[in-house]
Amino acid sequence: MAVNSNDIEAIVRQVLSSMDGKGVSSATPSASGFGAAGRTQYDIPATAHCAFLTDIKHFEIKEFPMPEVGDDDILVKVEGTGVCGTDAAEYKFDPFKYIPINLGHEGTGTVVKVGKNVKKDSAGKPLGVGDKVVTCMIFHEDPSITMFDLNKQNIGEADVYGLIPDDDRHLTGWFSDYILIRGGSTIFNVSDMDLDSRILIEPCAVLIHAVERAKSTGILKFNSKVVVQGCGPIGLICVAILRTMGIINIVTVDGNDQRLEFSHEMGATGHVNFMNYKGVENLAAAVKDALGGELADFAFQCTGSPAGHSNVYKFIRNGGGLCELGFFINGGDATINPHFDICSKEITTVGSWVYTLRDYATTFEFLKAAKRDGIPMSKLITHKFALKDINEAFETNIAQKGLKIAVMSE
Ligand SMILES: NC(=O)c1ccc[n+]([C@@H]2O[C@H](COP(=O)([O-])OP(=O)(O)OC[C@H]3O[C@@H](n4cnc5c(N)ncnc54)[C@H](O)[C@@H]3O)[C@@H](O)[C@H]2O)c1
Ligand SMILES: [Zn+2]
Repeated sequence: MAVNSNDIEAIVRQVLSSMDGKGVSSATPSASGFGAAGRTQYDIPATAHCAFLTDIKHFEIKEFPMPEVGDDDILVKVEGTGVCGTDAAEYKFDPFKYIPINLGHEGTGTVVKVGKNVKKDSAGKPLGVGDKVVTCMIFHEDPSITMFDLNKQNIGEADVYGLIPDDDRHLTGWFSDYILIRGGSTIFNVSDMDLDSRILIEPCAVLIHAVERAKSTGILKFNSKVVVQGCGPIGLICVAILRTMGIINIVTVDGNDQRLEFSHEMGATGHVNFMNYKGVENLAAAVKDALGGELADFAFQCTGSPAGHSNVYKFIRNGGGLCELGFFINGGDATINPHFDICSKEITTVGSWVYTLRDYATTFEFLKAAKRDGIPMSKLITHKFALKDINEAFETNIAQKGLKIAVMSE
């Protein structure tokens, strides 16, 4: 990737030091800056509309008075928001007990009003009315605790717009026509990216983090033979990231031929449909074949299937590595044989959970690299629905039609 990790570290450190617990910095804009978009005035309506999941499989559009924009706040007119597997799980059975909630966390839009202290984004880039933005985490504590050391794992106490409780100012989720970004949040000016890329930033950050975790094992290298199991949006983005890293031997495993075929557009060089094989030994032999006669150096497990977790060890060579990232939702227990699967093979495993602020900077560079390399990322967004049709968008998602479903607010 084009940005080296030292640069990213420097940028993020600079951002965090300017946050002094307040989030968006109030420092003076730099003379050499990137130039916030024009100073256009936007007509802001008196009310906003937010899609609330009020019951299982039921969204209602609620209307609220447009809130006051405080000195550190940012009002964003939403353009579009991806539907995530977590949103779909909430819609189906509310596993996180969030109902009623204004969902939507994979969103992007245009800044239409800023408080007087808002001058820059979380990377130190000038930010103003007219700029296109995405948000990352809202940290409760010092984000540097987990920000710089990948082995410290996870992100500690943090919230995400679209997965937080409603409050008296409302507009907390991206499935809305306006969202109020409160002071103390993280925000990025991504005006130099097209709309589809911006909608894909959040899920891509999940995979950037997973690949960073994988690299921390020292096993994943540019010439590794890699298996990506699961060809939903998560696995497909994983393939694209590996490809932009220069990894060329990538085999995908799924049960859906259409998704497997599509994985080649993302950069896969071979695929195996697990439905065609009886018994994991036969499946592993097919994977080995597809990799050119050797087992994988590294595997990414991108399904929420316990059987998928059990199987994946069989695809990995002795001394190889595994990144398990498929279980954002508890999918139940998986059976493995510790003797054959881990101990005697000396497999190094890492888990991966969401992303950190630093992964966002890398994600922007990845999406630009994917564009340069001709990887058709926007084809991942197969359906776009208007906000008023959000129930239909979710029905399409849970019927497993297409790949990434987006809800468009304008
Ligand atoms: N770690 C994180 O932070 C994080 C973040 C987001 C999502 N996730 C998880 O990633 C997983 C994938 O997300 P998605 O949106 O791509 O989901 P998805 O349901 O669209 O895709 C999963 C794919 O796995 C395939 N599959 C199912 N069982 C399989 C098996 N035994 N072998 C091979 N393939 C199998 C399915 O056919 C499907 O194409 C989800 O389970 C989600 O919980 C994790
Ligand atoms: Zn998500």
